[in-house]
Amino acid sequence: MPMTRSTRPRRPLIVPSVLPADFARLGEEVRELSDAGVDRIQWDVMDGAFVPNLTFGPDVIAAARSHSAVPFEAHLMVNAPDELLPRYAEAGCELIIVHAEACTHLHRTLSRIRDLGVRSGVALNPHTPADIVENVLPETDLVLAMTVNPGFGGQAYIPAVERKVARLRRLIDDSGLPVELEVDGGITADTISGAAAAGADVFISGSWLYAHPDGKAAATTQLRATAAGQYQGEAA
Ligand code: DX5
Repeated sequence: MPMTRSTRPRRPLIVPSVLPADFARLGEEVRELSDAGVDRIQWDVMDGAFVPNLTFGPDVIAAARSHSAVPFEAHLMVNAPDELLPRYAEAGCELIIVHAEACTHLHRTLSRIRDLGVRSGVALNPHTPADIVENVLPETDLVLAMTVNPGFGGQAYIPAVERKVARLRRLIDDSGLPVELEVDGGITADTISGAAAAGADVFISGSWLYAHPDGKAAATTQLRATAAGQYQGEAA
């Protein structure tokens, strides 16, 4: 039976990116995020080739792992992610997200992630059509629709991606599979409503969450409440 919107997770998930964190204090930073009540923590892994920035290797994530009980997810913005997959699983990531644009054999890569005993995810850059994931939904636990062009935090949300989010929502619901639909980039208290209304249920926030004047817990609560407000009108 197709999964209707009413059978979607009823509680939006708020997942901070640690990109804006103080990299000299990552252990304390992830502990503070845990204390703020976030649902997961996202590590933006960048190789300086797929995107013009360079960030975390697996050893950095492994060093932070023991400082938080919150699940870690790795967003691999890298070319040819296959050989890196075991390293990020061993580092303690329970979800590994690869870019469709970086995978010649996406079906095999997603299967390899699951073979490592962790959940799989596929990310789509703003220009990439939703339908590219239609044939791999059985192999993935999450689809990530980028709402910025990846590489840096603090960029402006691209509202046009909401049409793609709605298409992905329909594909996932029609499949009847429990696939999470995540958005990432420029997510604030103002932009999250459109993304949630379009069908997203997991929200990555970096710069807005870190800059919130009342702190990370207040930011997390505000984002979660604002997104949840978009669900109330859905069929019960
Ligand atoms: C883009 C990164 C950012 C980050 C969130 O490469 O993936 O989207 O996670 O950054 P903000 O919330 O500052 O846009």
